Amino acid sequence: MSEKTEPLLPRSVDSINDNSALVNDIAEVLITEEEIQARVAELGAQISVDYAGLNPLLVGVLRGVFIFMADLVRSITIPISVDFISITRYGPSTRTQGVVRFTKDLETSIQGRHVLFVEDVIDTGLSLRYMLRSLETREPANLRVCALFNKPRARLFDLDIAYTGFVLPDKFIVGYGLDYDERYRNLPFVGVLKEEAITEQRLPVRTQT
Ligand code: IMP
Ligand code: MG
Repeated sequence: MSEKTEPLLPRSVDSINDNSALVNDIAEVLITEEEIQARVAELGAQISVDYAGLNPLLVGVLRGVFIFMADLVRSITIPISVDFISITRYGPSTRTQGVVRFTKDLETSIQGRHVLFVEDVIDTGLSLRYMLRSLETREPANLRVCALFNKPRARLFDLDIAYTGFVLPDKFIVGYGLDYDERYRNLPFVGVLKEEAITEQRLPVRTQT
C-alpha cells in the first residue's frame, strides 16, 4: 500500500507565488530587480575583460553574498573558480568595534592566484579590512574587491573597492541576499524596512499567520 504525502498547508499556485508578507514590510524600494540585474551584468562583463587569461578565484562572504555571487558568475564569460568564507563579528558595539573571527575558511589555496573578493554590502568596512588582511598574508598574486552595495558614509577605514555596483546612502537595506534577522534575503529587489517591521516583536515563524 502506498502512503500519500499530505502537503503541509493547502496550496494553490497563487499562494506559492505570493510574497506579500515580505513586501508589506518594505517602506521604500531603493533598487529594482531590473536595475540590479542590469548592473550585475555590467560588472560581470567588466570582470571578464579585466581578468581574461588569469583564471581568477572569486571569494564570496557568506551568507549575504550568495544571490549576488550566483548572478555575477553567470554573467562572467571567462574560466573562473569560486570559494566562500564566513565570518562572525561580535563585541560591545557591532557598529564601531568588535572581534572578527572566521567561522568558515577557504578551501582553496590562494597563493599566486588572482583573487577577487566579492561582498554584498560594505558598511563600516570593519569586516572587510579584517578579511583582506588575513587573505593578504597568504600571498595571492593580486587581491581586489567587488562590492554590490557600497555605503561610503558609514566607512570607518579607507578601503579600495575595485568594482562597485551601487553607492547607497547610510540606510539599513534588505533583499537580494541581505537580511534583517535572517529574513527578506529572498526578495529580488533591495529596499528599506518600515519602522514597525524593525521594532515589532517577532513571533516564532511556525505560529505566525
Ligand atoms: P561592515 O563590517 O560594517 O562593513 O559590515 C558588513 C556586513 O554587515 C555585510 O557583509 C552585511 O552582512 C552586514 N550589513 C551591513 N549593512 C547592512 C545592511 O544595510 N543590510 C543588511 N546587512 C548589512
Ligand atoms: Mg547579515
